[in-house]
Amino acid sequence: MAKQIITDLDLKDKKVLIRVDFNVPMKDGKITNDNRIVAALPTIKYIIEKGGKVIAFSHLGKVKTKEDLVNKSIKPASERLSELLGKEVKFIPATRGTELEKAIENLKSGEILMFENTRFEDLDDKKESKNDPELGKYWASLGDLFVNDAFGTAHRAHASNIGIAANIGEGKSAAGFLMEKEIKFIGGAVDNPVKPLVAILGGAKVSDKIGVIENLLTKADKILVGGAMMFTFLRALGKNTGKSMVEEDKIELAKSLLEKANGKLILPIDTVVSKEFSNDAAHSTVSIDNIPADEMGLDIGSDTVKLFSEEISKAKTVIWNGPMGVFEMPNYAKGTIGVCEAIANLENSTTIIGGGDSAAAAIQLGYAKQFTHISTGGGASLEYLEGKKLPGIASISEK
Ligand code: 3PG
Repeated sequence: MAKQIITDLDLKDKKVLIRVDFNVPMKDGKITNDNRIVAALPTIKYIIEKGGKVIAFSHLGKVKTKEDLVNKSIKPASERLSELLGKEVKFIPATRGTELEKAIENLKSGEILMFENTRFEDLDDKKESKNDPELGKYWASLGDLFVNDAFGTAHRAHASNIGIAANIGEGKSAAGFLMEKEIKFIGGAVDNPVKPLVAILGGAKVSDKIGVIENLLTKADKILVGGAMMFTFLRALGKNTGKSMVEEDKIELAKSLLEKANGKLILPIDTVVSKEFSNDAAHSTVSIDNIPADEMGLDIGSDTVKLFSEEISKAKTVIWNGPMGVFEMPNYAKGTIGVCEAIANLENSTTIIGGGDSAAAAIQLGYAKQFTHISTGGGASLEYLEGKKLPGIASISEK
C-alpha cells in the first residue's frame, strides 16, 4: 500500500499543516545540532513554491512543569528555520486560541508561521501525547491539508500526527519528502532489500536491540555485532569478558539468538581493552579469548575490522545502527572509523544509518556524505527496523 506524498496534493492557496520533528538538542537556549531542521527544508520550500500557506509545528522534549513552558519553547527552532529559509517565519507563542487562529486567517500564500511546542498541551492532562480526540480535531480544523514530515516522531501516536490525520479528511494527508525518503530507505532495506543485506549492530545493550536482531535475522544475510553488547554475546559463548559491560540477565537471551542465527551473527574476534573507561589510560588489543580479568573492552580490534570489512564488501545493502566502540574517545574510535571506511568503499550499494548514535558518529568522524541515507529518527528508526508498523506513517492517506 503506497502512501500519498506531498506531490499528490494541490497546495495552491491552501492552509497546509505540516508536522515536522524539530526536537533538536539545545544548550542554554541554543540549538547544538540543526540536522532535523535542515532535513525538513525541501518539503517546506516546496509548499512555499507551490503557493501554499505553511503552518508548521513540532514537539520539543517532554513538558511536565510550568518551567518547561519557558525552557522548552520551540521559538529558537523557528528562528533557525527562518535563517535557513532566508525568509520570515512568524512565530505564534500558543498552541491554540485567537492569536493563532487570526494569524492563520491572515497568512498569505507562500508565507510561513510556526506555532508553539505541541507538548505544551501535555502540561495538565497529556492532551498531545494521549492523542486527545478534541485536540486532533481542533488542530485539523486550522488547515485544509496535512503533511507529515516528522519521521522522528512516527513511532508516537499523538494528536499532532495521528489525531490530525484522522480528522483532516479523506485523501487530504500526505508524507513530506523527508518522510518519503525515510520510508524508501529504511522501509525498503527491511522489506525489500537488494541482497546481500548486511546489518551492522552496535551500542551498549542487547536489550535495546532484541527486536531489531530478531527481525533482521529473518531478512539479513549477515549481522555484524560490535559495541558493548558484543560482550553479552561473548559471555553466552562461555568467554571471559573481564570488566567489560555485560547484561547478566540477557546472557540466556543472547544464547538463544545465537542459536536462531545459525551462523548469520558474526561476533568480533578481538577487542581493544583498558583498565579504565578513559582515553588517557593504557590500552591494548587482545583476542576475545584473552580478555584480562581486570580490563574492559572499549572497541572492536583491528582483526575484527578486517573481518567486518570483508563481509561489508559483499553487501548490496548495508544498514547500520549503533557504534562499534566508545567513538567519542579517539583511542576507541578506530572500530567505528573502520566500519565507516568499509561502507564508504562500497560502490553501487545502498548504505543506510538507522539514526541515533551511529548517525552522530558518522557525522562527527566526517563520513556523513559517504552514506546513501542517514535517518533523522532515533526511536522511530529502531522500531521501523524491528518491523513494527509506525502509527505516524500508517495514519497518512493511501494513494
Ligand atoms: C526523538 O527524538 O526520538 C523524537 O523526536 C521523539 O521524541 P520523544 O522520544 O520525546 O517522543
